[in-house]
Amino acid sequence: METMDRNLALELVRVTEAAALLAGRWMGRGDKNAADQGAVDAMRAVLNTIQMDGVVVIGEGEKDEAPMLFIGEHLGCADAPKTDIAVDPVDGTRLLANGMPNSVAVLAVAERGSMFASPEVMYMDKIAVGSEAAGRIDITAPVAENLTRIAAAKGRAVTDLTVVILDRPRHDSLIADVRATGARIKMITDGDVAGAVMAASPGTGIDAMVGIGGAPEAVVAACALKCLGGDMQCRLWPRNDAERRIVAERGIDTGRVLGLNDLVGSDNVFFAATGITDGELLRGVHYFGGGATTQSLVMRSKSGTIRRIDATHRLAKLRQWGEVPLD
Ligand code: FBP
Repeated sequence: METMDRNLALELVRVTEAAALLAGRWMGRGDKNAADQGAVDAMRAVLNTIQMDGVVVIGEGEKDEAPMLFIGEHLGCADAPKTDIAVDPVDGTRLLANGMPNSVAVLAVAERGSMFASPEVMYMDKIAVGSEAAGRIDITAPVAENLTRIAAAKGRAVTDLTVVILDRPRHDSLIADVRATGARIKMITDGDVAGAVMAASPGTGIDAMVGIGGAPEAVVAACALKCLGGDMQCRLWPRNDAERRIVAERGIDTGRVLGLNDLVGSDNVFFAATGITDGELLRGVHYFGGGATTQSLVMRSKSGTIRRIDATHRLAKLRQWGEVPLD
């Protein structure tokens, strides 16, 4: 594993930057799939320049039949280190297509065999918090109980907490339960990876993320939370009869609580995210004549280092490398 001592995250950020640079062109243009395709193409091209033997364990796209980096695809240009890859080329495709805040390009890498894959079930119930409340959450307990524990861990009243929840009809009773505690809610239309990362990042004003969202996004978020020292628990959530049938046939335990270490077993996790549209977590791509600026979050769990990288890109030079089709 010696080669894993290299901080891969510093190389991965070039991948998320490239994805954001391409996808950002599609902001507000109403075409989710074209935006996703741009990000996927960029990610694939740049990932294939990185010295590793990576296999995509968490690919995103099956859910909406979007273009995707498919599960089992090998990426990288060396035989070692052997890694698992979790990609979300655009978390918040709808946000991007509608020019709304907080769409991000996200990528995580960890040692081979360490990421939890659930190809049969597309959603998970989730709760995510920052380091102060790590070890205090219990997804099997009512949300009110969790908020009481989080508030106590932070030395605050429940009414001082702000909770991120995806705005979905499936969350009507969850939203009512949170409202009954007096906690504040920040409803998001999409993008629960950014929601979970915000819950674990100081200074965002967000204390927790709760509710049901994509299972791939749960693993990607878990990678980020490992780096941030946060905590997360999830449970698989079959969304329809077909998934319930598969779960029953294969004996999958949907009651099993998946902690951070179940979602990503490695202590050497690398995470990079680049903003596509401006948001609370990251600034989005801003284009100027011949170039663009990006802002990224780059983290590694083993060292605990968290970097924010502001970059200025000269598109003509990037084109010369021929790695990424930027037009
Ligand atoms: P994509 O843009 O990557 O498709 O996902 C956006 C997203 O909001 C995720 O952040 C979230 O986990 C999931 O979709 C929720 O699924 P749904 O939109 O089906 O409720």
